[in-house]
Amino acid sequence: MRIDILSLFPDMFDATLGQSIVGRAQDEGFLDIHVTDFRQYTTDKHRHVDDTPFGGGAGMLLQAQPIFDAMDAINKEVEGTYPKGRVILMDPAGRRFDQDYAMELAQEEHLTFICGHYEGYDERIRQLVTDEASLGDYVLTGGELAAMVMVDATVRFVPGVLGNMSSPMGDSFSNGLLEYPQYTRPADFRGMKVPEVLTSGNHEKIREWRMREALKRTLERRPDLLKTAKLSREQQIILQDLKLDLDPDAPK
Ligand SMILES: C[S@@+](CC[C@H](N)C(=O)[O-])C[C@H]1O[C@@H](n2cnc3c(N)ncnc32)[C@H](O)[C@@H]1O
Repeated sequence: MRIDILSLFPDMFDATLGQSIVGRAQDEGFLDIHVTDFRQYTTDKHRHVDDTPFGGGAGMLLQAQPIFDAMDAINKEVEGTYPKGRVILMDPAGRRFDQDYAMELAQEEHLTFICGHYEGYDERIRQLVTDEASLGDYVLTGGELAAMVMVDATVRFVPGVLGNMSSPMGDSFSNGLLEYPQYTRPADFRGMKVPEVLTSGNHEKIREWRMREALKRTLERRPDLLKTAKLSREQQIILQDLKLDLDPDAPK
């Protein structure tokens, strides 16, 4: 997968995308990440990329010209190598990012993220994009942190990025539920013991325990997720049982 990021602060990405799993995935050729400082495309003699809003008002807006020209250059570079991918504008008014959105983006071969700054964008920049995405209901100073989070969560679903040993499908949210509790050695730490079933070697019992614990944790912490989770018959029966444990008088 190729990922392009348009930002006025390209150095911000070195600390995250060049390290750890994402850094290794780039070294091994699973990802090809390019960060473009779109200031280099401005035709303004003072190298400005922003201006005051027509009609007045506080703050400065990113101008269309540098971003349009940067996008033209990227499109020219990838033409013939990658199919037309998605272009994502970071914007608090966009679609809320979540695990389903990450899985959806991971199907693409080319993604471009546009990071805003200052008071926002000249509205015509929206003509360039397929998506507008928000990290959540709060306002960041720029789109960089939001783009980093989206790239990080998305590339976990790109084959090869996590290596052969782990699967993102067992993670919280991937199957509509929170993840079950996990333990590692020692089996007894300061008197806090690992649940016996996990050291029993009985794989069927461990599977059942994990399923029950994932449902229990989701019911306790994020019951909203259960409204849309696609549960198997076995999970539905366990959930009914858990609900009865919590509130024996609840309607069945
Ligand atoms: C200070 S914000 C501009 C906020 C804008 N005036 C508004 O009220 O929607 C500057 C830039 O940060 C990015 N940004 C801020 N909050 C964000 C969020 N929750 N999700 C994604 N990007 C965000 C966007 O790129 C935005 O254009």
